[in-house]
Amino acid sequence: MSLDTLVQNKVLKDAMTVAIVCNQFGDTGKGKFVDLLSTWADVIARGTGGANAGHTIKIGSVEHVFHLIPSGILHDRAGKYNIIGRGVVLDPRVVVKELDLLDKASLPYERLRLSMNAKLVLPQHLVMDRIKEAKSGKEIGTTGRGIGPCYEDHTGRRGLVLNDILNRDVFVRKLKRNLAHHNTVLSTLDPDMQFTKKIMEHEHLANGAYFSQTQRFDLDVIVEMYATTYAGRIGAMITDTEARLRDYVGRKKILLEGAQGYLLSVDYGSHPYVTSSDASIEGLAKGVGIRVRDVDLVLGIVKAPYMTRVGVGPFPTEYGGERSEKHCQAEGMTIDLEQELYFDNALHHDNEFLRGIAIRKIGGEKGATTGRPRRVGRLDLPLLRYSTQTNGNKVILTKLDVFDDADKIEICKAYVYKGPAYRMGKYTLKQGHILFCAPQDPEILKHCEPIYGKLPGWNQKTPGIRTYEELPQKMRDLVEYIERKAKVEVVMISLGPEREQTIVRGGAAGIRS
Ligand code: IMP
Repeated sequence: MSLDTLVQNKVLKDAMTVAIVCNQFGDTGKGKFVDLLSTWADVIARGTGGANAGHTIKIGSVEHVFHLIPSGILHDRAGKYNIIGRGVVLDPRVVVKELDLLDKASLPYERLRLSMNAKLVLPQHLVMDRIKEAKSGKEIGTTGRGIGPCYEDHTGRRGLVLNDILNRDVFVRKLKRNLAHHNTVLSTLDPDMQFTKKIMEHEHLANGAYFSQTQRFDLDVIVEMYATTYAGRIGAMITDTEARLRDYVGRKKILLEGAQGYLLSVDYGSHPYVTSSDASIEGLAKGVGIRVRDVDLVLGIVKAPYMTRVGVGPFPTEYGGERSEKHCQAEGMTIDLEQELYFDNALHHDNEFLRGIAIRKIGGEKGATTGRPRRVGRLDLPLLRYSTQTNGNKVILTKLDVFDDADKIEICKAYVYKGPAYRMGKYTLKQGHILFCAPQDPEILKHCEPIYGKLPGWNQKTPGIRTYEELPQKMRDLVEYIERKAKVEVVMISLGPEREQTIVRGGAAGIRS
């Protein structure tokens, strides 16, 4: 039986709307599964995040990182629609750049549709994002793509939507009002405009073309670029994608492509170390304009037996703790440079910081958008129990092959709280308390010390294996340990980047979890 048939018969069954989300901090390999399920789907839609996301698409022999256009675009020729929904913060510059790449490779995008209600990313959002990060000493470690400021404008009721670029007068009016706000804030943050000027010299900001010595932002240049150049290039793709998707529910096969991960959700993650959209299934459904109950099957991706995080924020199981966090954030650090600096690294090294470097190398763990080394830690079941509360219990495990040569494996089963007494309403959390489900509050999470369960490694290469029964017994023990301890159902396992390197276990009985 082909892989596609196996996936359809054993996992998707009669589901019509399927979502792929991440149950960790993003970068768990959603792209591979979106691609795998794209052959099944009629429509592939994104609903959250923006150019902070990144997935690698191979065009010919060259790999390109795409940030906004859904991974399903390579299936346009097969008649599939790709949609960017209303919940996305859309930077037209990035879309145009990605379209140029597709043009160069003669790849069609006739069926790409952009929501008229997508939030419009403007130059001031990138400036604001970068200036705040620079002034706070990279407090959050954002991707610098203007994500937070654009969503802030939306909730602050001064944002623009994509369709505004098609109505020049409306665009100018809204832009003026929006710039008035940002200019006021920037006049305090950067009174002599030196920072703004420097930031605006970046190619993401038209190499300085938007800067005005007198007004900070040159309104005319922005209007020309957005309402003429971008409107001309992407105007015909802009439509009411929500109405279209609502009409498709139950009639066509819809695949929803999540962005980032549950633990970075603005609603469920550990504030402020989060992105600014809701990366859960709830945010995704809303972001494409359908109801959560219209989603028949949610597949949550989980990296195991290790996990990763990019940017600042609590990560209880991190190999090398604080040292690793600082190291990964250091200016100019790359996974190649760390291999030179710390060549004595290995999967079994006694020093866990060096163990982390080895895992990063074997797993190729560098940020697709920023190129930063990703922080690595052990699989954390309290965090998994937390994310499956919203995303459901059907999971896909990825990257297990990275641990093929490991002697032993540590999995965090619970935390012991080691911080000062901490009030939570009537209850006081005290030193020594055991927690099985991760708390959202970073003030608690940062004092949580993991309790590890130890399992033996399988010491066998696995990327060539195609069935669950053929997997080493010790790997299966690990899979079943995760299922038991986190009350999840593992429906697929990924053992490498290629689509065929996928084990379909099935068993996603019934629809909704
Ligand atoms: P922002 O989304 O650029 O505002 O960044 C906020 C936080 O989310 C930072 O810690 C980023 O590193 C993290 N982040 C944003 N997008 C991704 C992603 O696609 N993968 C992993 N981390 C991300």
